[in-house]
Amino acid sequence: MTNEWTKPEHSLAYLQRAKRQTQRQMGDETLLAELPVDCRRFLDLGCGAGHLFGLVLERFPNATCVAIDFSPTMLDQARERFGDDQRVELIERSLDEPLPEIGPFDAIISSFAIHHCSDERKRALYAEAFAQLRPGGVFCNLEHVASPTKTMHEKFLAELHIPLEEDDPSNQLLDPGTQLQWLGEIGYQEVDCYWKWREMALLIGKRPAA
Ligand SMILES: C[S@@+](CC[C@H](N)C(=O)[O-])C[C@H]1O[C@@H](n2cnc3c(N)ncnc32)[C@H](O)[C@@H]1O
Repeated sequence: MTNEWTKPEHSLAYLQRAKRQTQRQMGDETLLAELPVDCRRFLDLGCGAGHLFGLVLERFPNATCVAIDFSPTMLDQARERFGDDQRVELIERSLDEPLPEIGPFDAIISSFAIHHCSDERKRALYAEAFAQLRPGGVFCNLEHVASPTKTMHEKFLAELHIPLEEDDPSNQLLDPGTQLQWLGEIGYQEVDCYWKWREMALLIGKRPAA
C-alpha cells in the first residue's frame, strides 16, 4: 500500500488543513490533563511539525522530548520551529519499524499518525510503547478511528470540508473498541476512550505503578 505521507505535497496540504481544525483542541486538552504531573521525558510518535509535543512542552517547560516521524518535509517544519530547542530530539524513522529502545519515558504520545500503520503493526507498537514506559507512565493516542458505518464516515468528512475524493488513501482506520481491548490485553490500566468527536478519539492506557 502507498503511504501518501512520503509525498511533500501531501504533508503540506495537511498542515494547511490542520490550521482550520478546531475540533481537535478538546482532544489535545484532555490529553494534556492525563499526563503525569511530574512529566520529565516523553516520546511523540508521528510528530509531524510538532503540534502535540509543542503543547506538552508549553505545559511542562522542564521536560525533554524525543519525536519520531518518517517525513523529511514534516521534520523540516519541526526543525524550523524547534531547531535550537535543546529539549527536542527529532528522529527520522518509520513507525513500521520497531521502536528504538530509548526509554524509559513518563509519557508516550501520538496524534493522528498510528492509523497509517497496519492493524498488526498498531498492536505491536502499543506493546512496544508499554515496554518503554516507566511504571505509572501513560500512553496517549489521539487518533483517527473508524466510523461504524459508511454514512457516518461521509458525515465526518463533510464536517471537515474534505471532499470524498480527497479521503486519504493511506488511512488504515480501525474501530476504537478493538484498540482499547488490545491496550487492556497488553497490560495497560485505566484504559478508555477519554474523548471522542466523530472519528477523532483519544485512546489512553497507563502502565501500572510498580
Ligand atoms: C496527520 S499527520 C499528524 C502530525 C502530528 N502528529 C499532528 O498532530 O499534527 C500524520 C503524521 O504521521 C506521519 N507518518 C505517517 N506514516 C508514518 C510512518 N509509517 N512512520 C512515521 N511517521 C508516519 C506523517 O509523516 C505525518 O507527520
